Amino acid sequence: MPTDSSWVYAPAPEDSSHVEIKKHYQLFIDGKFRDAADGRTFDTQNPANEAHLSEVAFSGEADVDTAVKAARRAYNEVWCPMRPADRGKYLYRIARILQERSREFAVTESLDGGKPIKESRDIDIPLAAAHFFYYAGWADKLDYAFPGRSPSSLGVAGQIIPWNFPLLMAAWKIAPALACGNTVVLKPAETTPLTAMKLAEVFQEAGLPAGVVNILPGDGSTGAALVQHPDIDKIAFTGSTEVGKRIQQAIAGTAKKATLELGGKAANIILDDAPLHQAVEGIINGIFFNQGHVCCAGSRLLVQEGVYDSVVTLLKDRMETLRVGDPLDKNTDIGAINSKAQQDIIQGYLELGEKEGAEIHQPNCTLPSKGYWCLPTLFLNATQSHRIVQEEIFGPVLAVQTFRTPDEAIEMANNTPYGLSAGVWTDKGSRIFNFTKRLRAGVVWANTYNQFDPSSPFGGFKESGFGREGGLHGLEPYLRLD
Ligand code: NAI
Ligand code: MG
Repeated sequence: MPTDSSWVYAPAPEDSSHVEIKKHYQLFIDGKFRDAADGRTFDTQNPANEAHLSEVAFSGEADVDTAVKAARRAYNEVWCPMRPADRGKYLYRIARILQERSREFAVTESLDGGKPIKESRDIDIPLAAAHFFYYAGWADKLDYAFPGRSPSSLGVAGQIIPWNFPLLMAAWKIAPALACGNTVVLKPAETTPLTAMKLAEVFQEAGLPAGVVNILPGDGSTGAALVQHPDIDKIAFTGSTEVGKRIQQAIAGTAKKATLELGGKAANIILDDAPLHQAVEGIINGIFFNQGHVCCAGSRLLVQEGVYDSVVTLLKDRMETLRVGDPLDKNTDIGAINSKAQQDIIQGYLELGEKEGAEIHQPNCTLPSKGYWCLPTLFLNATQSHRIVQEEIFGPVLAVQTFRTPDEAIEMANNTPYGLSAGVWTDKGSRIFNFTKRLRAGVVWANTYNQFDPSSPFGGFKESGFGREGGLHGLEPYLRLD
């Protein structure tokens, strides 16, 4: 909460009384909820106050095997033979139920993961529904998507998702897989299983045939068992580059197809002719949105020398007015860090940045006493060789550097192991084209940042992974094209 009283807003908490969070959630296998074969469970908590939310069944190897068998049966007997237009009808139904239950999903997402309600309400949940709507439309039009080819489904997809956009990542993965005629075994992240379990309820409500989607909460060992299961045809993974590499090793020499969406270290580039107020607002959104828990976060800022002082002044002023606190408050800009483990990672980088010689700046603001938090942070005078410039921090931390010429900016932007996204801010269209052509990044936003749409493909270069999700491109990884 900013200490300047002119900026203190009255609390405006979102009503959560309509949301039922069960004491215990079970695995979703073959259309039914059941406990883990060995009875194991784990707890999920609210990172904003460390309160226990629910106990969740933990999937072991035996459960992975049961789920993959159910998915195979559903693939052979029901989903693959079904008329594509009928598959589309199920996807439309899922999308509509998500819209009907959107408030409940938004509150659950904010409780379990710590993100501000204005983001889960306005971005995560509507976009998740939009993905189901979008891919529902493709289900019976695959022949038109790939003219002259004969698209056919792959079989069973194993999908592993992270904790930063739990429901949205589930939708990104499940919707195109089903539209293309595959069945799914999905593993949500260990700190944010709840919206995936509610999504299983939506599948039941939609009458989705048993076994078409199976949901297995658990941890890395569950994910690894899924990756190694011999009857999986395709792996889709979003998460850390480290685990992405491990998955590649595990499937080497098998016929399993894979798409990996990994880390990022995006540069947001402000040229001296940019509209500065607009640019600063975009930079703030690019790195502080969702506490910087975003693989495409604009975590580096490159500013052309002539406007550096003005940009830094504007940034610091704007940071003073950001509201950090209760994720369920509608005025909150920055919520809780997703877990203690992630908070420790970020804290380690804050100490490292100062040790490396960058100048740290944080706004004058107090944090709640319980829960996991990080103040929005600038590192000024960062240099290209600093680890805070090279490595993904996955927190609300922005490293600021300067450049003289556009060529220099492009070289600096491209000089990390990653290549997921970038942003460019300038008044001139020709400069935008120069940058978008030469930046080695899967997505380049111009005079805006963090804009998503189901029709637009997303994915990385270099160590940010391979394959695309979203749009027409997002169908390809789930199809055989003869
Ligand atoms: P992680 O990559 O370990 O977890 C992502 C998912 O993979 C989770 O569902 C996890 O259970 C699963 N997983 C873990 N080990 C696995 C294995 N060997 N085989 C199959 N699945 C496995 O990420 P974590 O530990 O949560 O976060 C660590 C760092 O990773 C973050 O600080 C951030 O830098 C990065 N990260 C990047 C994400 C992105 O969207 N690109 C998302 C989450 C984390
Ligand atoms: Mg949680």
